[in-house]
Amino acid sequence: MCGIVGVLGQHEVSPIILDALKRLEYRGYDSAGIATVNQGKLDRRRAVGKLINLSDTLVHQPLPGRSGIGHTRWATHGGPSVDNAHPHQAGRVAVVHNGIIENFRALREELAEQGAQFTSQTDTETIVQLASHYLDQGMAPVQAARATLKRLDGAFALAFLFEGEEDLIICARRGSPLCIGHGEDEMYLGSDAIALSELTDRITYLEEGDWAILTRNGVHVFDADDHQTARPMTRINAAQARVDKSGHRHFMAKEMAEQPGVLKAAMEVYSGVDHGGIDLPEGLDFAAADRLIMVACGTAHYACQVAKYWFEQFAGLPVELDIASEFRYRAPVLGQKNMALFVSQSGETADTLAALRHVRGHVAQVLAVVNVPTSSIAREADVVLPIHAGPEIGVASTKAFTAQLQVLALLALKAGFARGHLSEDAYRTRLEELRAAPGFVAQALDREDEIRRLTEHLARARDVLFLGRGVMYPLALEGALKLKEISYIHAEAYAAGELKHGPIALIDKDLPVIVFAPHDALFEKTVSNMQEVMARQGQVLLISDAKGLAEAGEVPFRLQMPTVPDLIAPIVYAVPAQLIAYHTALHRGTDVDQPRNLAKSVTVE
Ligand code: G6P
Repeated sequence: MCGIVGVLGQHEVSPIILDALKRLEYRGYDSAGIATVNQGKLDRRRAVGKLINLSDTLVHQPLPGRSGIGHTRWATHGGPSVDNAHPHQAGRVAVVHNGIIENFRALREELAEQGAQFTSQTDTETIVQLASHYLDQGMAPVQAARATLKRLDGAFALAFLFEGEEDLIICARRGSPLCIGHGEDEMYLGSDAIALSELTDRITYLEEGDWAILTRNGVHVFDADDHQTARPMTRINAAQARVDKSGHRHFMAKEMAEQPGVLKAAMEVYSGVDHGGIDLPEGLDFAAADRLIMVACGTAHYACQVAKYWFEQFAGLPVELDIASEFRYRAPVLGQKNMALFVSQSGETADTLAALRHVRGHVAQVLAVVNVPTSSIAREADVVLPIHAGPEIGVASTKAFTAQLQVLALLALKAGFARGHLSEDAYRTRLEELRAAPGFVAQALDREDEIRRLTEHLARARDVLFLGRGVMYPLALEGALKLKEISYIHAEAYAAGELKHGPIALIDKDLPVIVFAPHDALFEKTVSNMQEVMARQGQVLLISDAKGLAEAGEVPFRLQMPTVPDLIAPIVYAVPAQLIAYHTALHRGTDVDQPRNLAKSVTVE
């Protein structure tokens, strides 16, 4: 999604802003731009495509100035073009904006009637036109910004820069995150702390509804009712926030490799080795719950889908699961004994956040499993369980998925014990199994060379089918999602038993079919479905353990995974799902970390 940067500096800001925008590239974008005020005059440069194009533009047409705002845009209203790129400017004001102005059509009509000339198709341009209109009426910049903000509906974050004002940026947060960085006689603004990580470790997060006046001397924050308010300054762990590939070719490669360490560290937080049980935040009451509602998007939703099996099996807790964008538009029946659990890497996904707000007050407790503890979803939940995965930059989620699974498994075990569904012995045995996951994940990562070879033929496929049963079904869904996201090969996943009800018609000698089937209680059934594929010349790749591969007989392609307890199989089998997508994408030469059209965190509905 879009990224915002602002700098009131002591030096030329264009290179600083460009550098900060690079750290926001991971969010996904298709155009970029910078505006500065220099000797009182507002000017801007914009370019379509990657930041290198903006950087080239700046070489040929430098943009001097010590105050500026910058933006990476992920197109929503109007395609990626220079005219639609931010910053937008009208008269004496420029704006960068994330999110959507829902009443932009009405505002645009009103402004056009008053003579405003629009040059883009964006909703953002209504903001600058409105602010410009107020300036023309004689309002001072702060007044004009305030008046403009009051007219806007929707969820957004934005920043204003004004002609003639070299020591002023006004910014606002309503729905999309925004943070302020404190420097030495300099001030910064970013849509996340990662953007500012090379500039400062002193950060103030704006709260929902806040707006702020930045000068080089500091920041004045106002709440939604325009009362001046104090927001704390926190020190962020600069090493954690720093974004580098640590010698890996891609962030995705680095993040996959980090998984054993991430899982081990998070396990230490929730259940140290000398600790017999699981420490979860105070106030969780699974014993009283009559239903668990889980809501998420994308990869996080597949983590929930795996966890549904666990909560049912270990805790006897009825589970309802939905995609966030569907959930709140279907009149879900909520009860005061329900617990609602929202899972999100970023903690900012607009659909998930909206679903959380929809249930608040109508269920017993709202839980959040997030990677970013300062995120909106974390702030708005009653109980937060961070996954402690560290920044995830690759658009395709990897370490966050396995870390989400681990925390969800801990929750399900704890719920099972609290509800008397798991005996103390069973509880401790399962916990020990979970403790072994990092070691098995490391073993799975060791199969990378083999996986690279296996993907050579996949890279030539037009379609790929993924199959699995039980917890391996959501794993198949995740494998198909990963492959689509970064290799652009059409991939679908089916519950293996459902194959015969339609998708079997697709099978021919050109269709690779990837089957996730550890030797568990469902193995025989999955293998029968696999035979149905092979009987029709489907090119099967069976991913199983030693026993499974031995029993399966002749299969065109095979990949051996370590033999693992059932509980942790989804965590371990996530690794081949990720590596298959990664190496197929490498063979095809696609942009692994920033696949086309995708955003890391989708902050619009
Ligand atoms: C985007 C990302 C996916 C992610 C989904 C949910 O679509 O590209 O990788 O799974 O959002 O994101 P969240 O931050 O809520 O987990």
